[in-house]
Amino acid sequence: MSLESGIESLKRGEFVLLFDSAGRENEIDMVVAAEFVTPEHVARMRQHAGGLLCIAIEHNFANSLELRYMHEILADSPISNKEMIMGLAPYGDHPTFSISVNHYQTYTGITDKDRSLTIREMANIFKVENKKKKFVSSFKTPGHVPLLIASEGLLSKRQGHTEMSVYLSKIAGLTPVTAICEMMDAQTYTALSIDKAEKYAKQNAIPLIDGKELLEFAKVH
Ligand code: 5RP
Ligand code: CA
Ligand code: ZN
Repeated sequence: MSLESGIESLKRGEFVLLFDSAGRENEIDMVVAAEFVTPEHVARMRQHAGGLLCIAIEHNFANSLELRYMHEILADSPISNKEMIMGLAPYGDHPTFSISVNHYQTYTGITDKDRSLTIREMANIFKVENKKKKFVSSFKTPGHVPLLIASEGLLSKRQGHTEMSVYLSKIAGLTPVTAICEMMDAQTYTALSIDKAEKYAKQNAIPLIDGKELLEFAKVH
């Protein structure tokens, strides 16, 4: 079962591939638990996935940091061009983007070493008592890693890679903070197809989790 082996991979600090559904983005994200992220993970996501490397976090954790969705921040701001603010994507979901961050000990923020530090330290914030204080004193914004906030109620409200990856980290008993990056196809300049992702998964011994299977699992757990 790809779900069971996927959970085991996440616990070992290894990648899983996560497909949402053909009716949604129809995309496969590389996913790893943020607490284990090394510069090698970032390099691999940059080279083999190639999409936007983001940190997904659980809703309650975002609340404890007083983080908000970027579309809400902009809607409440005094900018005049509010028609630019992203509403629903063509597949019907609101974006989960919040602010972007760099850990204060990074230099430019973009190198594999810098981004892995930002990602790992974001997971570490979850483990401290005064999360907000530690967050504010340890991170700067804007930065080079976007934060994505999972919906309250996780999969019951939204079935994106944001929610599915955070849900996976929770059932694996890990910190609910993940690093995710969409897999792109350098030959077609489009998102990697599920067929090609299956081939990549086999060749690299990485479990590929189908969102449908995950939603079925969530229904009975
Ligand atoms: C950020 C994105 C990706 O699609 C990512 O997978 C998270 O979004 P979603 O939860 O909508 O799938 O837009 O690069
Ligand atoms: Ca998206
Ligand atoms: Zn996605």
